[in-house]
Amino acid sequence: MSTVIDRIGLLVTNDPAIGPGTAELRNAAVLIDDGVIAWVGEADRAPAADERVDARGRCVIPGFVDSHSHLMFAGDRADEFEYRMAGRPYSAGGIRRTVGLTRAASDEGLRGNAVALLAEMRRQGTTTVEIKSGYGLTVDDEARALRIASELTSETTYLGAHVVPTEFADDVGGYVDLVTGAMLEAAAPHARWIDVFCETGAFDVDQARAILLAGEAAGLGARMHAGQLGESGGVQLAVELGAAAVDHCTFLSDADVDALGAGTTVATLLPGVEFSTRQPYPDARRLLSAGATVALATDCNPGSSFTSSMAFCIAVAVRDLGMTPAEAVWAATAGGAAALRRDDVGVVRVGATAQLVLLEAPSYVHFAYRPGVPLVSRVFAS
Ligand code: NIG
Ligand code: FE
Repeated sequence: MSTVIDRIGLLVTNDPAIGPGTAELRNAAVLIDDGVIAWVGEADRAPAADERVDARGRCVIPGFVDSHSHLMFAGDRADEFEYRMAGRPYSAGGIRRTVGLTRAASDEGLRGNAVALLAEMRRQGTTTVEIKSGYGLTVDDEARALRIASELTSETTYLGAHVVPTEFADDVGGYVDLVTGAMLEAAAPHARWIDVFCETGAFDVDQARAILLAGEAAGLGARMHAGQLGESGGVQLAVELGAAAVDHCTFLSDADVDALGAGTTVATLLPGVEFSTRQPYPDARRLLSAGATVALATDCNPGSSFTSSMAFCIAVAVRDLGMTPAEAVWAATAGGAAALRRDDVGVVRVGATAQLVLLEAPSYVHFAYRPGVPLVSRVFAS
């Protein structure tokens, strides 16, 4: 089955062979053949195909790559959000509430919640999603979350080191041993990545190092949560270990920014968190000026950021993180792909996986210019 999307007014390719950044083409067409991009060029030269979609001058972008989500959970914490809006601060402890609800949920309940959220994401233009465990925190519950997540995406992340569960409150060392031992063994067959929440109230730098190294020894790629609630050595540890990404990066020292500018680790910003916790926003401009690669992701979870909308993240990034609309749309597509070390998504080039979004707008600028408006007209992805 082949489809040609014709009369595209503005095409974001993100293809370095065409140009830097969003590498845009005007008056373009794209041919999709069996789920792969088979041709990209001028609309006047568009090849024939089984189906022709007339974009009528509107904008087409690569599907969003949401490189950070926590979809394997049960329950909701709307009450915490309400308290925060009334002035109470966010704390990592809320995670334990969701752990209790997640452990009590059935497989069908967990799967159903994640499937519904994935469908919600897809309707909003997200075509590649990373999913973490981290609300089970027992050997069986972490393995179960990853087993179900791996039915839904190839980008699965083992986050046994989300917080120390209540039953290990007096034996943090014992919990780290479990995370790097039996739990890792049970999780690894279902995971591509390992993650750790390196923050006051969660895991310190030495524990994070031990956890990520154990994961790497088990064949998993490293990624990290750091700099969400304050500066920590986690950011530089992530760069030192060559982690694919370090996520949050809200609080960064100059040395952190320099390390991210010089290293290969992607800095993933999650502005839904600052929106939903009333924290200060991260400074994307500071990172971009230092030469860091910046991604945007939702962090979709029931505590700190219960949005599934990449368009919302782009709008906030443009409004409050200091990004241009082009930088933000790149970060939400090619940036997310870089954070997952993928070169087949987040890009429109011959041979790439066909993941494309037709907007009901002439430009991606409208994500920020028309915030909150559903601008996705059609999603192309298998
Ligand atoms: O990325 N920072 C750690 N984990 C999540 C929060 C999860 C929760 O509050 O339930 C995050 O923000
Ligand atoms: Fe997170």
